[in-house]
Amino acid sequence: MISIWKAILMLVLASSTFSTIYSAKLQRQLENVNVMRIDTDLDSDVNLLSNLLAQPQGFKNEGSTINFDDSLGLERQFEGIGGLSGGGATSKLLVNYPEIQRNEILDYLFKPNFGASLQILKVEIGGDSQSTDGTEASHMHNSNDENYERGYEWWLMLEAKKRNPNIKLYGLPWAFPGWIGQGTQNPYTNVSLTADYIIRWISGAKRMYNLTIDYIGIWNERNYNVAYIKTLRNALDLNGFQNVLIVASDGGWDIAHDILNDGQLANAVYAIGCHYPGTYDSQDAYNTGKSLWASEDYSTYNDEIGGGCWARILNQNYVNGYMSSTISWNLIGSYYYGLPFYRDGLMTAVEPWSGNYNVSTPIWITAHTTQFTSIGWRYLKHDSGVGKLPQGGSYVGLVSPDGTDLTIVIETMTHDHSICIRPGLPWYDVHPQLVTLNLKGSFARLTSMNVWYSKLGFNGQPDIMFQSLGQLKFVSGQAVLKLGLDEVYTLTTISTGQKGSYPVPPPSQPFPLPYLDDFEGYPLYQEPFNLAQQTGSYEVLSDGQTKFIRQMVLENPVAWCDSDLHNKSISVVGSYTWSDIFVEINFRIPTLNSTSGVFVAARVDQGGCDAFKAQGIYLYVLQSGAYQLSNDFARTKITQQGSVQISAGWHTLSLLVQGASALGALDGVILFNATIPTSPASGFAAIGTDSYGLADFDNLLLESAASGLKIMGKYTMLVK
Ligand SMILES: *[C@@H]1O[C@H](CO)[C@@H](O)[C@H](O)[C@H]1NC(C)=O
Ligand SMILES: *[C@@H]1O[C@H](CO)[C@@H](O)[C@H](O)[C@H]1NC(C)=O
Ligand SMILES: *[C@@H]1O[C@H](CO)[C@@H](O)[C@H](O)[C@H]1NC(C)=O
Ligand SMILES: *[C@@H]1O[C@H](CO)[C@@H](O)[C@H](O)[C@H]1NC(C)=O
Ligand SMILES: *[C@@H]1O[C@H](CO)[C@@H](O)[C@H](O)[C@H]1NC(C)=O
Ligand SMILES: *[C@@H]1O[C@H](CO)[C@@H](O)[C@H](O)[C@H]1NC(C)=O
Repeated sequence: MISIWKAILMLVLASSTFSTIYSAKLQRQLENVNVMRIDTDLDSDVNLLSNLLAQPQGFKNEGSTINFDDSLGLERQFEGIGGLSGGGATSKLLVNYPEIQRNEILDYLFKPNFGASLQILKVEIGGDSQSTDGTEASHMHNSNDENYERGYEWWLMLEAKKRNPNIKLYGLPWAFPGWIGQGTQNPYTNVSLTADYIIRWISGAKRMYNLTIDYIGIWNERNYNVAYIKTLRNALDLNGFQNVLIVASDGGWDIAHDILNDGQLANAVYAIGCHYPGTYDSQDAYNTGKSLWASEDYSTYNDEIGGGCWARILNQNYVNGYMSSTISWNLIGSYYYGLPFYRDGLMTAVEPWSGNYNVSTPIWITAHTTQFTSIGWRYLKHDSGVGKLPQGGSYVGLVSPDGTDLTIVIETMTHDHSICIRPGLPWYDVHPQLVTLNLKGSFARLTSMNVWYSKLGFNGQPDIMFQSLGQLKFVSGQAVLKLGLDEVYTLTTISTGQKGSYPVPPPSQPFPLPYLDDFEGYPLYQEPFNLAQQTGSYEVLSDGQTKFIRQMVLENPVAWCDSDLHNKSISVVGSYTWSDIFVEINFRIPTLNSTSGVFVAARVDQGGCDAFKAQGIYLYVLQSGAYQLSNDFARTKITQQGSVQISAGWHTLSLLVQGASALGALDGVILFNATIPTSPASGFAAIGTDSYGLADFDNLLLESAASGLKIMGKYTMLVK
């Protein structure tokens, strides 16, 4: 069967000159051949071939001439497709990848003409607070503290700029350290103070890294404050950051109403950024005349349906809602399985220990637009180059600033294959169809355009992603395209596209055991790798003799979600599927600003904004002189307790969880052998503090239960 198809393909390739202007006589040939060259990807040949040989039934061709005409003028400026690192800790595991794979991943994301070739990188301005998949560190834990060497967003911005100096940078806070609220949960308590805090972040980027921040936001998905926005604009101008533009408010479209009624606010805001707009703007937003952005969108599991979602919204955010920029939450799903919104990124990298990563469909969907446009191109007008296809799907036409290059992106995503996480998607139909592309105005002269093609594979069909199909010929400005379902076509005068590739990454591996981290190899102020802080902020410090990690948060932050409002910190590590495990760590509680206690834990069953509700097996030692074994992080379900004294200096805390029993030890002395609740059955290992306040940790050791039992077998047994 396959060999017959291959023979037909050979014939087709030998005899055909790609599709030309539509005529009844040519129809049969067109249906067979809208593709001239097929990449040497043998796996997809069969599928592509069956697509090409599809019978014409079901194809509709009524009223299907689509005009692309620049003589009627151009519309809005295209402002780029971006990815969002943060909101929060979504790139956590990426930093620690082996150098080779890490560079490959960064190339897939940022390198021009290689993969997603992103045009905007949006990052979180860390607020020492949980912001979805973890906590990102603030550059000012306290009002007297300033540090630009924390976390990974600086590094990521540098890597992005290294690959694409033209990439735009956009910073946005989700939360703020507690002192910003001055005892409240309101970051607008003193708007000058908050503006100063943000200006310092922008200045720090410039001073420390020569990074120019292009856009700055207000407060992610929380209320905006008009006085604050004006104050921020003023402070930016006074500090020489006239070119840093404000995008507001990273929530709904509601700020449009205030912009229409307040000239000063209108002057302060460059673009209205809406989250998950469902491809539609509001009348008010349109009436402001401002740039409209989907400043956070997508957030969908990155399988084929995720690719379909992304393809549909990248086009239709402009077609339906005049949005000239769309930013994916998130850039890369680089956080543990078991944390919220697993794999909701353009690609996935969750195994720094193995180097395994996955380039997912949204990378190539992005390439369909980004590899053939730049920020500053202009959309053609609605109905003369932007619109809906007669039988479902959409198209956008974009023109280069000098007017000479044209890129057309067409998508035919079906409803069920393009559902995004939110909002709901009303029903619509898409049918296979023939369309006549009609180039007018200055593009009428074109005799061919380069074609790039993707088809998302469902029902066992493989994906065909971002294949170069050679050139489509135009006669008198016209060509016919046969459009199937769940396809993306780019037709472009740009000839530099490339489907970048690297060797298959190393195979997937479970989290390695035994695992020991002594933190000696880290730069100062870095976050510990693999420890995914859910509340609190942990960073590497040195006391001159040894490097260790310290929990730095002293008070409840101005939080983004509930998990931070309970005066406790937790950092998870390892595998969400672990049931039996041994966790041991050295800790020290400083005398100044200290925490009320520390813990090690196993079977921790949640993180994210619900981190405070996590169940598991927690061994706390408290400065009050007690140890407690608790079934929850909140320490409300205590199953075992006794007294211990914690002197100054280093101690060792050990917890072995095996089946229905737990063994705990402090400084090599067994505290208990206790029966534990059977639920939860599995979860992460963790360390943490009983309250905010300083605690130091060193030499994190994770072992299998069997090895842990051997280790504890040498400890002093004080119990029966
Ligand atoms: C608000 O913050 C600014 C900048 O830090 C400071 O100069 C000012 O005194 C503060 N105002 C009040 C009322 O605390
Ligand atoms: C800083 O970056 C700019 C580009 O934004 C570049 O022109 C300049 O040379 C850089 N300066 C240094 C000291 O690297
Ligand atoms: C990534 O692909 C590998 C195969 O290379 C597979 O084993 C693994 O489960 C995938 N992981 C994710 C997160 O998609
Ligand atoms: C202790 O806390 C105060 C504020 O409460 C802060 O100013 C000081 O820097 C803190 N010291 C340390 C070592 O964290
Ligand atoms: C802990 O107790 C369980 C059951 O009570 C027992 O099977 C196990 O051997 C004990 N472990 C140690 C190390 O004593
Ligand atoms: C956090 O807990 C510590 C220790 O119990 C206590 O001293 C501190 O006041 C608490 N902070 C808040 C904000 O509740």
